[in-house]
Amino acid sequence: MVKSRRSKMLARNGMFYPIIVFAAFLAFIYLTFGDLWVSSPEETLKLSFVERNGTQFYADGQVFYVNGWNSYWFMEHAVDVGRRPRVRTMLQAAAKMGLTVCRTWAFNDGAYNALQISPGKFDERVFRALDLVIAEARRHGIRLILCLVNNLKAYGGKTQYVKWAWQEGIGLSSSNDSFFYDPNIRRYFKNYVKTVLTRKNTVTGLEYRDDPTIFAWELINEPRCMTDPTGDTLQVWIEEMSSFVKSIDRNHLLTVGLEGFYGPKDPKRLKINPELWAADLGSDFIRNSNLSTIDFASVHVYPDHWFKNQTFQDKLKFARKWILSHIEDGERVLKKPIMFTEFGLAGENKEVEPYQRDRFFKLILEIMYKSAKHNKSGAGSVFWQFLVERMEEYNDEFGIVPWERPSTYNLITNHSCRLARVQGVLPSQQEHLKSFCFKTQ
Ligand SMILES: *[C@@H]1O[C@H](CO)[C@@H](O)[C@H](O)[C@H]1NC(C)=O
Ligand SMILES: *[C@@H]1O[C@H](CO)[C@@H](O)[C@H](O)[C@H]1NC(C)=O
Ligand SMILES: *[C@@H]1O[C@H](CO)[C@@H](O)[C@H](O)[C@H]1NC(C)=O
Ligand SMILES: *[C@@H]1O[C@H](CO)[C@@H](O)[C@H](O)[C@H]1NC(C)=O
Ligand SMILES: *[C@@H]1O[C@H](CO)[C@@H](O)[C@H](O)[C@H]1NC(C)=O
Ligand SMILES: *[C@@H]1O[C@H](CO)[C@@H](O)[C@H](O)[C@H]1NC(C)=O
Repeated sequence: MVKSRRSKMLARNGMFYPIIVFAAFLAFIYLTFGDLWVSSPEETLKLSFVERNGTQFYADGQVFYVNGWNSYWFMEHAVDVGRRPRVRTMLQAAAKMGLTVCRTWAFNDGAYNALQISPGKFDERVFRALDLVIAEARRHGIRLILCLVNNLKAYGGKTQYVKWAWQEGIGLSSSNDSFFYDPNIRRYFKNYVKTVLTRKNTVTGLEYRDDPTIFAWELINEPRCMTDPTGDTLQVWIEEMSSFVKSIDRNHLLTVGLEGFYGPKDPKRLKINPELWAADLGSDFIRNSNLSTIDFASVHVYPDHWFKNQTFQDKLKFARKWILSHIEDGERVLKKPIMFTEFGLAGENKEVEPYQRDRFFKLILEIMYKSAKHNKSGAGSVFWQFLVERMEEYNDEFGIVPWERPSTYNLITNHSCRLARVQGVLPSQQEHLKSFCFKTQ
């Protein structure tokens, strides 16, 4: 999503210099004793790699439909001792709700507390924070979708890569889309990808590429390349980068991170796009997702942002058509799972009442449940986005604390239960689901 408030928040962080000094001191303490934060590996749950067979995911030998959520802020919190407990609180609460997958950022390029400070230069302190996030997720039986770069400016994104190339005097162009076609920038990004995938986790001792806690890699959040509406530039980039990931890591699933817009060469599907502009962004859902190196397709659902002036009923109608159309693509054309990796309704919008948000969620979860029940390709839904209490500065218009509103909480847990009835209870869910699923039904 477009996260305007995030950049404000990042700017604001710059003013807390004394806090940073104090945090650095605490970080020192943590680097010395930090391993105590995660319990020993023997206590952690056994997880297997998630695989794909046709249009479905499998884990531990059983079919796996995903009830998941986004918390993009994990690494950034784990680096700061004072805020780190929020990561555990979120994972613990999510596991209790029967959620199984979290999508989060494995990048921070050149921003405050950057993981990649400049091309090829990494901050070990921040890498250790990402190590902790992965180890802590494993401990709660939660798998992670790790995204590798942002198309948007938050946490650096492609704009930062272009700036770096410019600063080093080797940039071809100042257009932020040169991220996709400048050979030097492509080299920067590949180097980044390789460093992350082969990172040896200081908590678990596992290289990331060998760690089944990672559900999948995502190449880029919401790629658009508007300077080439034919879509060729982005397509070539996805081909190159997805092959590169596969050359290093054959264990994990890989997705692109698309919003799901249909491209201009697809007149039949263009009618499903929100509006005309959506075909001119340089992305093409079918073409981009059809590559053999891409294991499943990703789609976002944001009627609030995609239409200027829609009634609530129109939004529901659009969401339904949009989701069903993509599931159909998974069945008939792509023959791959389709994951709805972001969906939300803006809460700050005065027209949106909380009960409407519940209705929107319910519509989506209902479709996903039916897909699971009929062994279809709609393989998962991932809420945008969950926070814990007192995180207003991390809220865009979409954040919710899921346990603050019982009706929303019930929707989510109910979905975990009915998916479990379809596919069985995952080992990581056993402790939690029995407490609320199989009581009264
Ligand atoms: C994939 O699914 C098909 C059909 O359900 C089944 O026959 C096949 O054995 C499965 N393949 C693997 C590798 O699990
Ligand atoms: C990329 O550059 C274009 C043109 O300067 C600008 O409109 C757009 O907002 C930029 N996008 C990002 C994500 O920086
Ligand atoms: C998708 O890829 C397959 C296999 O490479 C190919 O046969 C098929 O024509 C492609 N479909 C589309 C719509 O591009
Ligand atoms: C938005 O839609 C409402 C109801 O359909 C209408 O009354 C209003 O004039 C519209 N506003 C704009 C800016 O188009
Ligand atoms: C879905 O698959 C399961 C096992 O893989 C099978 O038992 C069930 O009958 C299938 N359901 C439908 C509706 O095809
Ligand atoms: C819970 O799921 C069942 C189907 O398994 C559905 O009939 C019911 O309406 C759901 N309840 C809520 C609160 O979503």
